[in-house]
Amino acid sequence: MTENSTVQIQKGLAGVVADMTAISKVNPETNSLLYRGYPVQELAATQPFEAVAYLLWNGELPSAEQLAELRAEERRHRALADNVRAAIDLLPLSAHPMDEVRTAVSVIGASDVSGAGSVLDAAGSPEENLARSVRLYAALPAIVAYGQRRRRGEQLVEPRDDLDYAANFLWMTFGEEADEVVVDAFNRSMTLYAEHSFNASTFTARVITSTLSDLYSAVVGAIGALKGPLHGGANEAVMHIFDEIGEADKVVAWLDEALAEKRKIMGFGHRVYKRGDSRVPTMKAALDTLVEHYDRPDVAALYDALEGEFVSRKGIYPNLDYPSGPAYNLIGFDTLTFTPLFIASRVTGWTAHVMEQTASNALIRPLSAYNGVDERHIDGYVPDA
Ligand code: ACO
Repeated sequence: MTENSTVQIQKGLAGVVADMTAISKVNPETNSLLYRGYPVQELAATQPFEAVAYLLWNGELPSAEQLAELRAEERRHRALADNVRAAIDLLPLSAHPMDEVRTAVSVIGASDVSGAGSVLDAAGSPEENLARSVRLYAALPAIVAYGQRRRRGEQLVEPRDDLDYAANFLWMTFGEEADEVVVDAFNRSMTLYAEHSFNASTFTARVITSTLSDLYSAVVGAIGALKGPLHGGANEAVMHIFDEIGEADKVVAWLDEALAEKRKIMGFGHRVYKRGDSRVPTMKAALDTLVEHYDRPDVAALYDALEGEFVSRKGIYPNLDYPSGPAYNLIGFDTLTFTPLFIASRVTGWTAHVMEQTASNALIRPLSAYNGVDERHIDGYVPDA
């Protein structure tokens, strides 16, 4: 907190409670994260991602029939739409995939006829927004998968109706059916990334929604916020660090240099959790299953060495991006695809917040304290009489 004459400024809004939410509860004291009351670890261990999405949107886990309905709707919107593909193809291969996905969501938004017309209709009804949320969540895997394939010079893979969300996502990315253990680890990561109260991207979505703008604009803005390495971009950045270090034996020397240069070590630290991120043990367990599945003890050794060394030196603990980065790498995703995977998951939380914000809206418009030059005047200016 800094003082500015008579006002107190909460830099970065740290510690500020901006509103209520019934979607998730983060408790750094007990190191717990609840989605609609359920511990995220329990959801990750027992639920398909589709059920978690349903829970975030509707407040309750789906019945078998409701889950089947959501799955059917998701399958209806899984294929990459021609206009979205055409828009992606216009982008240079050097475009960052986050920009590619942001553009694709923009195209989907602009093509949604239910949002056409006056800005006065932009916010949409609760029913329209739920339908838009489902369609976006359904469309994102194809966008992310196609992006990676395009960069690799590979052809689009059409979705498979016999596969559920996580398995189909991996199918569309790699063009082969993933082993069950891989699908399970990936599904868990999707659940862990889905929601986290008023993080920067979700708050961005709520700010945009508070002006009565549309859901797609809120998601496009949220993607922009997520891209930064202090937020979602950290899972990509973690992998760059792993690549830079190379092997466990080199951790100490690498860290000496990085800390001497005052570098931030990506994948560590959190604004809310100061004693460890509640999601890390579950994601680390998923990473361990992948390490075993792919027989890559070297990855676990590097992970443990960097964590042990950094925590003992700085007392700053890993966040979710630390285990998810190497996990996505083992599954075969390109490093640049990691943060788009975060979008595919977090879109469920963002859209739940869009609907919650809309339901009890107040324009989000904080104040600022001025610290510029004192009032001054244009030489020779004579005010009108
Ligand atoms: N590496 C090195 N030092 C760190 C790190 C880190 N990863 N994280 C915090 N610190 C240090 C800061 O340098 C600062 O030190 P100082 O007081 O000597 O200046 C102190 O710890 C406090 O850090 P802040 O950045 O001020 O704390 P804040 O609460 O704003 O930061 C943040 C949270 C931005 C996540 C920070 O820990 C960070 O930059 N981490 C790396 C990026 C990252 O992993 N982001 C992912 C977030 S989780 C998610 O999006 C899923």
